[in-house]
Amino acid sequence: MSGPLRLAVVGCGDVANYTAGFARLNGGIRLAACCDRDELTAGRFARRHGIRRAYDDYAAMLAEGGFEAVYLAVPHDLHLPMAREALRRGLAVLLEKPLAATLAEGLELAGLAAAPGACLAVNYQYRYDAACYALAQAVREGALGQVRYARCNIPWRRESGYFTRSAGWHALLARSGGGTLLTQGSHFLDVLLWACASPPARAQGLVRRVVFKEAEVEDLALGTLELESGALLQVCSSMVASPEQAATIEVYCERGTALYRAGLRPKLEFRGARPHRKAPPVRGVHALARSLEAFRRWAQGGPPHLAPAGEALVTLAAVDALYRAAASGGWENVTADFTGAGRIEAQEHTWQKTPSV
Ligand SMILES: NC(=O)c1ccc[n+]([C@@H]2O[C@H](COP(=O)([O-])OP(=O)(O)OC[C@H]3O[C@@H](n4cnc5c(N)ncnc54)[C@H](O)[C@@H]3O)[C@@H](O)[C@H]2O)c1
Repeated sequence: MSGPLRLAVVGCGDVANYTAGFARLNGGIRLAACCDRDELTAGRFARRHGIRRAYDDYAAMLAEGGFEAVYLAVPHDLHLPMAREALRRGLAVLLEKPLAATLAEGLELAGLAAAPGACLAVNYQYRYDAACYALAQAVREGALGQVRYARCNIPWRRESGYFTRSAGWHALLARSGGGTLLTQGSHFLDVLLWACASPPARAQGLVRRVVFKEAEVEDLALGTLELESGALLQVCSSMVASPEQAATIEVYCERGTALYRAGLRPKLEFRGARPHRKAPPVRGVHALARSLEAFRRWAQGGPPHLAPAGEALVTLAAVDALYRAAASGGWENVTADFTGAGRIEAQEHTWQKTPSV
């Protein structure tokens, strides 16, 4: 395809402003339209980012067309219906994480996205963070030996405004599907599951509302996942750290350890082994810019984005099991069928079928 990719932004809230900023720096993308159910928000966003067409109705924007791709940055319960409609029209979709609000919705969307010619990338942009990418590639390639255990810690903080903006959707379980684990922690859990390259099998978890008692979702989540390989993963995700700290990932393997620390300058250290540090497959000033560029390439016939729907489904299924385990108080199995036709295989996922350690 020649010429820039014409992209329509849907949901002109917090993250869309960052993504639109990076889109404007990308010579291969033109912001063709924007839409927010709040007319004033859509108009303001259009003026800020030099977009000519602003809408307050998604269906009306799709009907007028004039773009090849949509970027959906809307509440989680809208991910499935809006992505389904865009795919039906043959549009490429860059969908904000998570894949969907519930596992059932995620399974439906992953099935639709596996159709030949469909292009749906989920914006798990940490896969394009240079340090996360190098960590994941080294672990996936076995440069540190077999994974024994790993953990990610996301000691972040949110203020009360987070739960009141945009009609308070973040606080409502039916709209968000979950709290800090799904919304923040799943970024780093996604990297960890990708690195370990073994399907999550079962989970144990605990969730709490420590500060935001009025919210229907948790602001602190702790959990353990057992992978089919036998490796154990721990995740701790929070909105209540004071002060907020950098997220970390630690992977402990047979012959070495990988330590990642997020931040303005993300840090990666290998101990016990010196694997080659691979660079992300696309260039850009930030992980979000690289994720966007990877999506542009895929939408215009290039290689797939690193987080297609089938990959984001694995993360969603792990989060789903962690939530069910927190509710039941025991171990819960991960229930999604990752080997079903048209799901993981369609995205060329390669699991390491390794024996238990
Ligand atoms: N990749 C990241 O690092 C990152 C960071 C933050 C948020 N997110 C994700 O981005 C998405 C949006 O989150 P946010 O924090 O920007 O939310 P937000 O509340 O700031 O923005 C959402 C916007 O969607 C609009 N909206 C709601 N219903 C709509 C409809 N029917 N049609 C059009 N617009 C509608 C709202 O008016 C609002 O402006 C979520 O999936 C979230 O998890 C990703």
